[in-house]
Amino acid sequence: MSDSPRGSAPPVLRSVDVTRTYGRGDAEFTALAGVDVEVDQGRSLAIVGKSGSGKSTLMHLLALLDRPSAGSVEVAGRAASDLRPAELNAIRNRMFGFVFQQFFLTGGQTVFENVSLPLVIAGVPARRRREKTMDALEALGLADKAKNRATDLSGGQKQRVVIARALVNDPSVIFADEPTGNLDTVTGAQVEEILFGLQRDRGITLVVVTHDPDLAARCDNAVTIADGRIIGRSEAAA
Ligand SMILES: Nc1ncnc2c1ncn2[C@@H]1O[C@H](COP(=O)(O)OP(=O)(O)OP(=O)(O)O)[C@@H](O)[C@H]1O
Ligand SMILES: [Mg+2]
Repeated sequence: MSDSPRGSAPPVLRSVDVTRTYGRGDAEFTALAGVDVEVDQGRSLAIVGKSGSGKSTLMHLLALLDRPSAGSVEVAGRAASDLRPAELNAIRNRMFGFVFQQFFLTGGQTVFENVSLPLVIAGVPARRRREKTMDALEALGLADKAKNRATDLSGGQKQRVVIARALVNDPSVIFADEPTGNLDTVTGAQVEEILFGLQRDRGITLVVVTHDPDLAARCDNAVTIADGRIIGRSEAAA
């Protein structure tokens, strides 16, 4: 079933010949066609390509936020299609963290409330929630902003709040869609350092969609997508 040497863990994420079409009939559009990728635990994968090439579509499939039209997605060797809805939710809530531009912060709520949301969803008791939320805020240098409203922050601080929220549940995988896209160069570099620091220090797996060739080059592996197909793969020198 697997090419991995016997006894080694299956990739934490794998797509096998994954296709995603939108619409039907004359309006059918193939956003992704026959894509194979795999990511080992603790490694980083960059997904690069032009606007509209299918990067976010692939990330959403790997993150179990969407289902393929054909092919399969596996999480730690288990086919996502075999998982019950409660298991899918548990994986998304406990094993994955999301740094997506469309998962906005709730502006009127405090930084603390925004970061603790995944713990509320996971049913973590209030006291433990407080500890874990403050740990995440401290890790991102935001402890003094806990009571600020999320709107009252700079762009870089907001992005750090999003990262704090993504890691508050001790995920094994963080998915980041253009994590530095809206940031100035200096702030973008800080956010990049934070993400790679999480990989290095906590063994978190990173899946990063980016237009930035330098960010892609720092990842262990990169795939380039054009018109829904992988047209290039690279692996960083060890
Ligand atoms: N819900 C949808 N319905 C129809 N078409 C869609 C839908 N979502 C995405 N697409 C199309 O699929 C293609 C791939 O979209 P995707 O969002 O994956 O691109 P992307 O590489 O992430 O682009 P960008 O860099 O601009 O974010 C695009 O042509 C897009 O228009
Ligand atoms: Mg996108």
